[in-house]
Amino acid sequence: MIKIIYSYNAENVGVSAAKVMADVIKNKPDAVLGLATGSSPIGMYSELIKMCKNGEISFKDVRSVNLDEYVGLSKDHDQSYSYFMHKNLFDHIDIKEENTNLPCGLCKDPEAECKRYDKVIESMGGIDIQVLGIGNNGHIGFNEPSDYFSLGTGLVQLTDSTIDANSRFFATRDMVPTQALSMGVGQIMASNKVLLIAIGEGKAEILEKALFGKVTPQVPASILQFFKGEVVVCADRAALSVIMKKHPEAVKAN
Ligand code: GLP
Repeated sequence: MIKIIYSYNAENVGVSAAKVMADVIKNKPDAVLGLATGSSPIGMYSELIKMCKNGEISFKDVRSVNLDEYVGLSKDHDQSYSYFMHKNLFDHIDIKEENTNLPCGLCKDPEAECKRYDKVIESMGGIDIQVLGIGNNGHIGFNEPSDYFSLGTGLVQLTDSTIDANSRFFATRDMVPTQALSMGVGQIMASNKVLLIAIGEGKAEILEKALFGKVTPQVPASILQFFKGEVVVCADRAALSVIMKKHPEAVKAN
């Protein structure tokens, strides 16, 4: 079931997405959180930090697995996803470092690293909630448009459109890594709940296509239409503009 929650702006998206996460943590203090990077979840992370600081929630028994990491960037590179997670969440909450997991971008043997990460995910006994953004091309994690849906963690070749989109964070386009390690679509689909966050007009077309169009690996996020549990979509009015025009009945006000 897909539940679309409309928020007026990005700040309100952060608040409503944080509520969804906080409910999971309150119900299960040792929840396994599947976490995402990118600009979309930043507002949610700052709300979760506030909730943790005011004692509403605690991450002391929470475990986390991140979706992806760039190949070739060390943990302390300011564009690595490990750095991002520390800066935007981990360093400000009571989560234990040893309970946080990301693929290693500097591994010598990507195949072995993918296997290791599969084992990490498996050993957690299931992801309680998986946070996702959506790429301009419909990617989830770094699962790019393809002829098939990936099952487990894999080494992926980033598409030109993703490299273009992510080059805004690097000094030059040449500095953007061309490969990443990403959790597979199968692992995302095995989680208990999905929280998809989309902000801005740039996501309006692809969000409609993903949630209402044909289910195809050419739009990886479209597989969420087959998700067994609840997919909560927290999005702002700009990201929902096409959906509100075509499927107004599907959108719930926050
Ligand atoms: C990146 C990440 C994705 C993210 C997407 C959208 O490439 N690997 O996990 O969802 O881009 O990013 P943003 O939220 O900045 O639009």
